[in-house]
Amino acid sequence: MKPVKVGICGLGTVGSGTFNVLKRNAEEIARRAGRGIEVAQIAQRRPNPQCDTGSTPITADVLAVADNPEIDVVVELIGGYTLARELVLRAIANGKHVVTANKALIAVHGNEIFAKAREQGVIVAFEASVAGGIPVIKALREGLAANRINWVAGIINGTGNFILSEMREKGRTFPDVLAEAQALGYAEADPTFDVEGIDAAHKLTILASIAFGIPLQFDKAYTEGITRLTTADVGYAEALGYRIKHLGVARSTDQGIELRVHPTLIPADRLIANVNGVMNAVMVNGDAVGSTLFYGAGAGQEPTASAVVADLVDVVRAMTSDPENRVPHLAFQPDALSDHPVLSIEACESAYYLRIQAKDHPGVLAQVASILSARGINIESIMQKEAEEHDGLVPMILLTHRVTERHMVEAITALEALDDVVGDVVRIRVEHLN
Ligand code: HSE
Repeated sequence: MKPVKVGICGLGTVGSGTFNVLKRNAEEIARRAGRGIEVAQIAQRRPNPQCDTGSTPITADVLAVADNPEIDVVVELIGGYTLARELVLRAIANGKHVVTANKALIAVHGNEIFAKAREQGVIVAFEASVAGGIPVIKALREGLAANRINWVAGIINGTGNFILSEMREKGRTFPDVLAEAQALGYAEADPTFDVEGIDAAHKLTILASIAFGIPLQFDKAYTEGITRLTTADVGYAEALGYRIKHLGVARSTDQGIELRVHPTLIPADRLIANVNGVMNAVMVNGDAVGSTLFYGAGAGQEPTASAVVADLVDVVRAMTSDPENRVPHLAFQPDALSDHPVLSIEACESAYYLRIQAKDHPGVLAQVASILSARGINIESIMQKEAEEHDGLVPMILLTHRVTERHMVEAITALEALDDVVGDVVRIRVEHLN
């Protein structure tokens, strides 16, 4: 059978990795796919000296790949929203299948892209968009199809996890570690996407849609970054038996879906709390299977290429099948998506870590406890440290049971109004993941 012809758009880190893996493992890949996969055109703006593309035709115009009648599958690896969206929609309109690693594109424009793909009977595959080389989309969409998914929780930004791990293990500063992550090619072009949780929210949006059968709703995801975390809180969390991770949580409740990315205390004895460096991990809890954990490299050249090439193999296997009988893009049949709402952060529920800087007077603890109990907030434990020498203030650290965010915000406002409480109350959510 003739090989399937692929056009790679973007020959940066992931594009060159994809080219190299396709070349190196060509024979194995053809044995799996049933046909060879040939890169018949590459679009690149700048030459990439790390990739020997041999005699493969090169163009500077990505849209020329979408218009090339020779090409069966367009691989979109240029990133961003604008040109990438135009390229993908053009490829679909021209009846080509698409493979993309672009989480921002899928999270923000996925509903439109999948609708157009259905009209044209083509596949849009996006395994590499979430957690790099970990085949978590495939697992969630196919391997766990028997389950009602209860929740998904993941460390899905390698840069953020690298920064938190280095800060905890080596006491390094935030900007120092971020610069290293950028040099290693993990960080997004705009690092605020990594450290403010936007990149993780893109990925969580995709996972939540596939887990719960809801349309993609990135605009409803709550994001809170890691830039304000202090080494003091990292240390107190450790002393209480927890690790702080930048976690994406998607949970199905009777009221709606929680969709949130924020720093989170996780018990140190959970496997996911021990995922360090640039590695990613995603826990999925289903009613039949219980808890599962998927772990691996969430970024990097060949790990991400691994997912792109696996998608290419899937596309080649499915391209001659009836479009109605393929695995749906978002796991559930498009006419069976649910309108269960995504909840605002105020309606989400979690346990909390609070750090209060209090004057060293009798009765402060009683006032704090009374404010919390008046709002039905149950205290799990309290740790009070020695007064700080420089200001005489006593750091008071509390762990609470689960409570809605709305009640916790009210309680924090009341705590901050106390005469004996100085400055802002530090609040970090806690998830036990059991
Ligand atoms: N900037 C992302 C990360 C790259 O650090 O995880 C992979 O999406």
